Amino acid sequence: MKGTIQIRGLGKKYPIYRKPSHKLIELFSLRRVSRHAGHWALRDFDLDVAPGTTLGIVGQNGSGKSTLLQIVAGILSQTEGDCQVDGTVAALLELGAGFNPEFSGRENVYLNAAIQGLTRSEIDSRLEGILEFAGIGEFIDRPVKTYSSGMFLRLAFSAAIHVDPDILLVDEALAVGDLIFQHRCVNRIRRMRDAGKTILFVTHDLSALTRFCDRAILIDKCRKILDSSPEKVVHHYQELIYRRERRQAGQRDQYVEVGQDATLPVVSTIPSIHNRYGEGGARIKGILLHSPDGRVLNQVNAGEEALLLVSVDFRKDISDAIVGFTVRDHLGVEITSSNTSYEGVHLPAVKAGTTLTAGFRIRFPDVRPGSYSISPAVARGNIWEHTIEDWIDNAYIFNILETGLIYGMMRWPVQVSYRFHGGEEDLRQDVETQR
Ligand SMILES: Nc1ncnc2c1ncn2[C@@H]1O[C@H](COP(=O)(O)OP(=O)(O)O)[C@@H](O)[C@H]1O
Ligand SMILES: [Mg+2]
Repeated sequence: MKGTIQIRGLGKKYPIYRKPSHKLIELFSLRRVSRHAGHWALRDFDLDVAPGTTLGIVGQNGSGKSTLLQIVAGILSQTEGDCQVDGTVAALLELGAGFNPEFSGRENVYLNAAIQGLTRSEIDSRLEGILEFAGIGEFIDRPVKTYSSGMFLRLAFSAAIHVDPDILLVDEALAVGDLIFQHRCVNRIRRMRDAGKTILFVTHDLSALTRFCDRAILIDKCRKILDSSPEKVVHHYQELIYRRERRQAGQRDQYVEVGQDATLPVVSTIPSIHNRYGEGGARIKGILLHSPDGRVLNQVNAGEEALLLVSVDFRKDISDAIVGFTVRDHLGVEITSSNTSYEGVHLPAVKAGTTLTAGFRIRFPDVRPGSYSISPAVARGNIWEHTIEDWIDNAYIFNILETGLIYGMMRWPVQVSYRFHGGEEDLRQDVETQR
């Protein structure tokens, strides 16, 4: 039946080449000599999805989620096992997957639709709708490699929904932060769900997962470890991260420098990486939002206190490091930023090979409820002049819960008083002040 997915014993092994030259040896020997060790990205994977299901998929970075979607989409072949997909598939994958960067947007639309089995005339008749929804103007005729991540996403999403697939795959893409578009995407996906399409939805936005999905799976270290209700899966996933962070905290280096907080744990999870850049002298290792009692927070109440942890691996000696973060709302609007230097904390010189964790204690103000993202960064220099060593857009997504009516973006701390003017008492006072 259209919209059914049946996966049995699926496995994907990526080669690891120990030295670049080994890849060449293998190529020249026409693969008779195998010099690579394998790395399993997915293993012993079974999954049945009935038509009309909206299946949420969660798991830590590197657990195998994107690999799974790419195999279902047919753009990656498995090493072992069976993946049967009944019906047409449209995929909104991580940036780049399924698109040829050298081709123009228009050529990619044709290419993509042809893969979905559409004829040239079918595509012609939909092209206008695709271009209109994407709204990227003349960029449609430029190579995709010149696109910003936002433009790419608009085109990819537009192409995906216009082929009217039986199955839609969405890989984290909606968290890309510059979009009013996001809202339209969510509406479109909701409509596809209501129309009985099968949807596989990878996300780190755990509240979207529970709102949106009928069922969810948790992937960990290339295997499916839970298949249940979204609520159960979210709970289990949060516990898993929490336990893992705790264990790492127990193993952390014990030396402490003056002025530092010895209780800060190392965090090594980056929930999502969309756009990352920097000189690379230091690399962000993890980001996490903790409650004061050490729970992983994916949602907070206005007025609640939390600890934002950002761990950084230093690859070079850096004497003037700054660690900071930017918060954006679901439309990509910057809400606030801060960093160690701005808050008056000057980090001591850091040696290559060291890991440093910065903790930012935050009391959340009364801001509009909804989904927010945190982009961590590490730089060198001062707040006026610096170079970015590593920056990750929208690495951590969390929700601020509805705690009362808020007009506009935020509630200012306002105190109201009043007084009537015109009474006898009031007139006498006015006269006295005039004297
Ligand atoms: N093209 C590739 N070559 C080698 N290893 C890869 C490749 N793509 C992914 N991997 C590895 O496979 C594992 C699963 O990756 P992925 O499916 O992207 O995970 P996720 O989407 O859950 O973050 C990771 O260990 C990753 O490093
Ligand atoms: Mg992925």
